[in-house]
Amino acid sequence: TYVVTDACIRCKYTDCAAVCPTDAFRQGPNMLVIDPDECTDDGTCVAECPVEAIFAEEDLPADKYEFIRLNSELASQWPAITQPQDALPDADKWNGVSGKRRYLKR
Ligand code: F3S
Repeated sequence: TYVVTDACIRCKYTDCAAVCPTDAFRQGPNMLVIDPDECTDDGTCVAECPVEAIFAEEDLPADKYEFIRLNSELASQWPAITQPQDALPDADKWNGVSGKRRYLKR
């Protein structure tokens, strides 16, 4: 399973969702997550993300383990996204900023 992490928050470029063969991405107000029940581990999304927000679960840095639970929990609440959309208006400003976990909107 692949996991979206805090680098996505306030960016949401959505290139990842456009390439997912199983439409596993779910969309919240300022982040996407991956539904672990739909992810087939093909990994195409990883290279598509301009901010490198997506990791294989086994490659997650220790300080991002929380996102395993968050992807699962939020995927059950948020709607699917299968087409690319415009990134959030300030996406480029937030690209590369660390510690964005506190900005997550549900
Ligand atoms: Fe987020 Fe990267 Fe996708 S910023 S929406 S994980 S392309």
